[in-house]
Amino acid sequence: MNSSSAGQRINELRKLLNEHNYKYYVLSQPSISDFEYDMLLNELIDLETAHPEFYDPDSPSQRVGDDRNQEFEQVKHVYPMLSLGNTYSKEELTDFFNRISKGITEKVEYVCELKYDGASISLTYDKGKLTQAITRGDGESGDNVINNIRTIRSIPLRLAGTDYPDRFIMRGEVFLPRSGFEKMNAEREEMDEMPFANPRNAASGTLKIQNSSLVARRPLDCFLYSMLGEDLPHETHFENLQKAREWGFKIPGYIKKCHSTGEVFEFIDHWENKRKNLPFDIDGVVIKINSYRQQHILGYTAKSPRWAIAYKYKAEQALTRLISIDYQVGRTGAITPVANLEPVKLAGTQVRRASLHNADQIEILDIRINDLVYIEKGGEIIPKVVGVDKSKRDVSSQPVRYIEKCPACHTRLIKNKGEAKHYCPNEEGCPPQIKGKLEHYVSRRAMDIGLAGATIGQLYNHGLLKDVADFYELKKEDLINLERFAEKSADNLVRSIEKSLNVPFDRVLYALGIRYVGETVAKKLAAHFQNIENLMNASFEELTGVEEIGDKIAESIQDYFKNDNHKQLISRLRFAGVNLKMKKEQTKAVLQNLKNKTFVISGVFEDFSRDELKNLIGRHGGKNVSSISSRTDYVVAGTNMGPSKLKKAQELGIQIIDEKEFLKLIEYKRKE
Ligand code: IVH
Repeated sequence: MNSSSAGQRINELRKLLNEHNYKYYVLSQPSISDFEYDMLLNELIDLETAHPEFYDPDSPSQRVGDDRNQEFEQVKHVYPMLSLGNTYSKEELTDFFNRISKGITEKVEYVCELKYDGASISLTYDKGKLTQAITRGDGESGDNVINNIRTIRSIPLRLAGTDYPDRFIMRGEVFLPRSGFEKMNAEREEMDEMPFANPRNAASGTLKIQNSSLVARRPLDCFLYSMLGEDLPHETHFENLQKAREWGFKIPGYIKKCHSTGEVFEFIDHWENKRKNLPFDIDGVVIKINSYRQQHILGYTAKSPRWAIAYKYKAEQALTRLISIDYQVGRTGAITPVANLEPVKLAGTQVRRASLHNADQIEILDIRINDLVYIEKGGEIIPKVVGVDKSKRDVSSQPVRYIEKCPACHTRLIKNKGEAKHYCPNEEGCPPQIKGKLEHYVSRRAMDIGLAGATIGQLYNHGLLKDVADFYELKKEDLINLERFAEKSADNLVRSIEKSLNVPFDRVLYALGIRYVGETVAKKLAAHFQNIENLMNASFEELTGVEEIGDKIAESIQDYFKNDNHKQLISRLRFAGVNLKMKKEQTKAVLQNLKNKTFVISGVFEDFSRDELKNLIGRHGGKNVSSISSRTDYVVAGTNMGPSKLKKAQELGIQIIDEKEFLKLIEYKRKE
């Protein structure tokens, strides 16, 4: 394709993808399948790669962020970012209404909105283009986190329509929907990283990450709640927000124009009950006066506007007694302390157990047996203990002594530096770990073998299952004599196990339960290494050369395959016919023009992020490694390449190429 027709197609694809982004992320009404979307995006990425002359930071392909370390620029807010006066009581809210009617005698319209619980952001648009995204900071100035904000797909980089002011500001709240928060925390726990306490901390923490490609992986979203500027389309807040929706902003539908204070109270009561069902957290309702003229008359105190107030809901908490602490052993040996509580009602359900997270948390909160503890529903799954009423504490109470030995197999626990949890290292002989691994193996997203946890326990107790390869040695005759099994259920199980032989390699890899190898990592590894032998033989550098695989994961994979028991297990699985390689049709068609060439990427690049370069290398059949050795073919050097790396590459006589030469290498090979 020549440059001009490529340019034309690139423009078409960008327009199309922007429209689909809007439908998916803003309206939540996708009109094409994910597959079709990915095909369009891949086409765009391929064209942009082949034609770097059309690079545009606002392209929908650029929402993946950039892994160059960035310092945030401090920017002064044109309009200071004030806070809101807030109240938890209806009486005080009535006082607020009374103050307003003293200041304004004419009719007042109120706008009620939800108070989204995230981090506030101020977006500047110049001629319809996002040019700045500033955090609240101290209210006077904040950090320009535009590169992170660009990764949020519901935020328009270019506006739709033409009737927007030349320059204006949209303010809103960046937040994590509950589902995204839970998924992210589950991944963090899997990686032994401290989970975020709540979606708000997670959102504001994420905005401050100095590597936008990491931000891009977090499912942030953004609701806009105010417009500021000189020539706004309307003289009223509500109407301007409706207009902003037409320009492509995500203006939540949970907003109401009220003509009386009674309607405001109704809105508050309605959402107090219904907020549990929202897909994101709120901590109250914000009430604003609609007319800018009236807002102006009322003005501001030093800290906040007199024309708005936040009515905050009380966090759903309950106070109950801590009876005892259980210690659960997970499939990887991680220990989780769980509180047994005197049953108490919280947000509509009876709660008997709550998470205590880990030893540090117990120590920080100074939680003791018999204490009255506050429990709270956060992400709504399992409640957590958030505090202690020490005033009612028994004088003779003692701090909790965290267990030192595994409650199941009595092996001494270990705690690695920098990790939050204790571990039982007895992987081969600790019953809950073995059962946990078996349960993980059969789970729906892994091998999808229809088998309940209790039945696994039964088979384990009868000595029929000790590891996951034993599934393939189970016979109908073994099962039929067991309690709970009849002819039909035994048949079903055997058939379900047989069917698991068709499960694709990436899910098998996930099913093995290697520490830190979750679904996403398993997919990346399977696509890169194609089969288990390649993975087992991969060097540390090859492993860390794969996108998203860091030192910790690489180390864990190598440890796993070093273990003779695991090697044997793999042999037995292979013998049983389990899929240990990618099927032909799953293999991504890769260009093979960098085949067998090994690359090290170093420094900072102009047009590509490091991840993008790695991706390009992978897609052309090359290998990425993280450190230079005599087997390295090329070092792709950007600016700021470390002097020791440079010296090593020169000493070993390795070809050092820059970004442009690298692109030529692909181009050149492509023409070959
Ligand atoms: S309006 C002049 N509307 O609450 C203040 N704020 O202290 C204008 N927030 O961190 C703020 N939802 O980010 C407004 N619907 C909403 C909001 C909202 C959440 C946050 C805001 C700020 C805090 C106000």
